[in-house]
Amino acid sequence: MAASAALVMCAAVGPTRQPTVVVPVSQVADPAAGTVRIDGEDYPDPLRLRDGTPVTTTAVWEEQRRPELLDDFRRNVYGHGLPDAPARSFDVTSTTLPEATRKLVGITVEGPHGTGTIDATLFVPRTGDEPRGTFLMIDHRGAVGDDPARSSGYAPVPAILAAGYAFATFDLDDVAPDGGAYRGGMIDLFHPADRPLPDDAGRAVGAWAWGASRVMDYLQTDPDLDPTRVAVIGHSRSGKAALWAGAQDTRFAAVVANNSGSTGAKLARRGDGGVGAETVARINAAFPHWFARAYRAFDGREGALPVDQHELLALIAPRRVVIASATGDANADPEGEFLAYLAAAPVYELYGLGDTGLPSAEWPPRADRGFRGPAMSYHLRSGGHGLTAADWELYLEGDLFGR
Ligand code: GCU
Repeated sequence: MAASAALVMCAAVGPTRQPTVVVPVSQVADPAAGTVRIDGEDYPDPLRLRDGTPVTTTAVWEEQRRPELLDDFRRNVYGHGLPDAPARSFDVTSTTLPEATRKLVGITVEGPHGTGTIDATLFVPRTGDEPRGTFLMIDHRGAVGDDPARSSGYAPVPAILAAGYAFATFDLDDVAPDGGAYRGGMIDLFHPADRPLPDDAGRAVGAWAWGASRVMDYLQTDPDLDPTRVAVIGHSRSGKAALWAGAQDTRFAAVVANNSGSTGAKLARRGDGGVGAETVARINAAFPHWFARAYRAFDGREGALPVDQHELLALIAPRRVVIASATGDANADPEGEFLAYLAAAPVYELYGLGDTGLPSAEWPPRADRGFRGPAMSYHLRSGGHGLTAADWELYLEGDLFGR
């Protein structure tokens, strides 16, 4: 699309504030229809209750609209999660390395049908100062080892430590193996293994998000970390899980979704986005173990979904949301991720935080630079699908948790 026309909305708070929100004219809500127009199509309006009442205050957003949206995403997309308060214990083994204190943390979860353990790894920089914050990575590549010196662009632990952040990670296979055996991690601690899961039960992506919250249970207790400065980060399938974790669990002060694509930051109603991107039907066919079975009802019928993915991003408000795309990542529909990012801004603006940091709503924005507002960040990296050192450079720029 050529969203050249942009509307600048003035923030309503404080006499000295400058105009902050840049959204395409086509994204302005249509009060009569109860929808927002995005790139010429109707989308659900995050700022309207199910009964049509406009949401104009943060109180109504938090007490009424957020629960409605979470319920819609649970019923129709990600499924209902595992219970939030299982009995658990933490088993910590600390080792002092030259650049970090490494803690191997066994997080044991108990359900009615057994116990399981998530093995998390945490690196805390040895500067003597409290870390500036912690990145918690949901990892599906098994790519983060115990030795920070053996790192990669995907998880450049030395650079993260040098920037003053702690870094924690867990392998999502501990929670739900990524394939046909997905129930064999933690899901069947809570469901009888010989019975099918209900259609609206969460599957692997829901379990991974839940696993991030269990690791967060531990991070909240670690004396070396500030529990109010933890970001959950994920790439691709793990980016979908990171968004869903951050949408539900407000203990995450920030969410970083790298190339999260379909059922991540990409708007579902765009279908293949004109670039052959992954649709709801394709993702459900290729990865039947990721989402609730109920999501399949929307194969080829995205317009019938009660939600779309800009509303998932909006559920992170007023905490920082960071969306990153790559120019060559057609499968993820980078423009669809960009449009969802912009369309989440009106919810941030309820808090006076709707500045997306982008100079205009024109696609594509300049590649390889970070755009940052007080609570929203975006970048478009040159190149293909991946989480790279270049992405991390932008994540480590500035203070992730500052305004
Ligand atoms: C596939 C899938 C994507 C997913 C990606 C990944 O490409 O189609 O939805 O994001 O795998 O996780 O790497």
